[in-house]
Amino acid sequence: MQYFIYLLFFLFISNPAEKATAVVEKGEQKVIEVVIESNDQMKFDLSEIKVEAGATIKLTLKHVGKLPKQAMGHNFVLLKKDVVLKDFAMEAIKARDNDYIPEGTEDVIAHTIVIGGGESTTIEFEAPAKGEYTFLCSFPGHYALMNGKFIVE
Ligand code: CO
Repeated sequence: MQYFIYLLFFLFISNPAEKATAVVEKGEQKVIEVVIESNDQMKFDLSEIKVEAGATIKLTLKHVGKLPKQAMGHNFVLLKKDVVLKDFAMEAIKARDNDYIPEGTEDVIAHTIVIGGGESTTIEFEAPAKGEYTFLCSFPGHYALMNGKFIVE
């Protein structure tokens, strides 16, 4: 019986959405570290990221695949509320020379550069107001498979 409880506890703490975040207190400021992986199968390993309002988010995007960024590039783009995922993705396709972020856009809260297999990149930003936001990879053709919810509580 005791073993069973341990097993339940283990399953609970090994939830991928929890595993990917760590909280570090830096003086007054809470820093939440998030690691999200992307791969050659055009997938993120997280479909949902939960953070706390008021925290600084230190987000690392890893590309665990082997394909070059010209063929299977990935970025992480966090959209403002009410931005339509598909509309943004269609605009982003035209912005190849700007990491697939439309020049001068006001639709984005934070984004990384585009990376290829074996690479990783880290950004820091302030968590937006409480609510539910959408993140995506804006590399052409990826948004339908590569998107998720960014929830600020
Ligand atoms: Co991608």
